[in-house]
Amino acid sequence: MEGKGSIEVVKLADLGFRNGINEVIGITVGEWLNTAPLGLIVEDEKSKKAKIRLYSNHTRKNIEKKGEIWLNLIHDPVVFAICSFDDLDESYFESFDPPIIKGSLSWCRMVAELTGPFAKLELVEGGVLRRELKAVNRGFNAIIEALVHSTRLVEFGDESLRGKVEYYLNLAMKCGGERERKAVGIIKERVGIQL
Ligand SMILES: Cc1cc2nc3c(=O)[nH]c(=O)nc-3n(C[C@H](O)[C@H](O)[C@H](O)COP(=O)(O)O)c2cc1C
Repeated sequence: MEGKGSIEVVKLADLGFRNGINEVIGITVGEWLNTAPLGLIVEDEKSKKAKIRLYSNHTRKNIEKKGEIWLNLIHDPVVFAICSFDDLDESYFESFDPPIIKGSLSWCRMVAELTGPFAKLELVEGGVLRRELKAVNRGFNAIIEALVHSTRLVEFGDESLRGKVEYYLNLAMKCGGERERKAVGIIKERVGIQL
């Protein structure tokens, strides 16, 4: 892949992935371009190999058919909020080949193979588009926490999680900026919460 910040990727760390769980947007091709927040599990950031634990969702279905996934590393809470419940429309993309969401810091394509609850991944190509100076923001972190609990609440109907979602939404309102506040609005609407 020429352009699009392409680099010769020798390891996951080149693209910003670190040991532990990296929250990213996974893009797969099916009947439509599917976007979902996913936790990329990295055991050796100096390697090309990683995995994702996948529930029964569109991402799993698409990987089963196509055997590949694109990942975008991005820090936009609104993108995480939309992708948790829906898919991004075309206006959110700055490129379709490879698929890159506007504002992404890096992208990559990985071959993917389903094994039990996991998809085993291996890096094929990737690029770095932006290197962003960014302070830690508890509001952004709170949106990620709120979304993890919200997706479980909505998908598994686990109402015991509602209190946690409310707690993190209040925190996001207190510590976040305008993108976090917009994300709070999306989550409130999708989960049916009034703060
Ligand atoms: C931060 C975050 C991380 C997530 N990680 C995963 C994951 O690793 N595996 C998974 O199956 N779902 C994960 N989810 C839930 C999916 O994003 C969610 O179920 C989504 O609706 C699936 O979309 P799809 O059906 O389009 O694939 C995560 C959600 C959030 C907010």
